[in-house]
Amino acid sequence: MQGEEASFFVLCDGEAVLPIGTAQDHKRVGEGDTGPNTGGMGAYSPAPVLTEAVAARALDEIIRPTVEEMARRGTPYQGVLYAGLMIADGAPRLVEYNVRFGDPECQVLMMRLGAQALDLMQAAAEGRLDEIRVNWAEDHAMTVVMAAEGYPGDYARGSRIGGLDGLPETSSEMVFHAGTAERDGQIVAAGGRVLNITARGDSLRQARDRAYALVDRVHWPEGFCRRDIGWRALD
Ligand code: GLY
Repeated sequence: MQGEEASFFVLCDGEAVLPIGTAQDHKRVGEGDTGPNTGGMGAYSPAPVLTEAVAARALDEIIRPTVEEMARRGTPYQGVLYAGLMIADGAPRLVEYNVRFGDPECQVLMMRLGAQALDLMQAAAEGRLDEIRVNWAEDHAMTVVMAAEGYPGDYARGSRIGGLDGLPETSSEMVFHAGTAERDGQIVAAGGRVLNITARGDSLRQARDRAYALVDRVHWPEGFCRRDIGWRALD
C-alpha cells in the first residue's frame, strides 16, 4: 500500500466506540527512517495525517463496521482497538488491527489523556462508552526511545544510567522505564529499548524540544536515541 502510516486508537465496549487518540511512530533504528526495523524508536501524537476528516472516514468505513459485525456474530469486542492505517489522498485503508496499546504510542497517548484514561477504560469495561466524552487539550506529545547500543541486534545489559534522579515527573514531562532494573540502588539497562523520554507541549516542536532537553540530561554512554523523531510532521 502507498501512503503514510498512522495509528488510530479507539476504545470499544462491545457496541459503542470512542476514539482516544492518534499517533505515528518510527520503526527504523536510524535517522531518516533508515536501517533495520525495531519495535519503535519514538512516537508523537496527534498524527497530522489523521485529520478529523480521515478519522471520520476510518470510523465510518472501517472501525464501526468491524465492531458491529463482531457484535452481530455474538463475539462483541470490548477493549482497546489499535487500527494501523495507510492514508493516501485523504483515504484511509486498514493495514492491521492490534488489540492492545502500541509501544511507544501508548506513552504519548497516556501523557495527552492524563488521569481521565482510567475513567475511559472503566467505561469501556462497564459498557458505558456512549455516556462518556474525552476532554481534549489542544496539545502535542512526543516520546523519544533511548535504546542500548547495538539494538535491534545484540546489545549488552547492565550498564549504569545516570541523571534520572533529578528529572521531572509532571503532567508534561515524564520518563517511562521500559527496560531497566535496579541494582545496588542504581538504575541499569535491562533490555533493548530502555527508556521512553516523553514530553507534552502546545506544539509538536515544543514537545520535541522538551523531550530532547530531558534526553540530554540522561547520562548513559552505552545508550543512544534517534535525534529526528517527528521529522515528517516538523518538516
Ligand atoms: N509501535 C508499534 C507497535 O506497538 O505495534
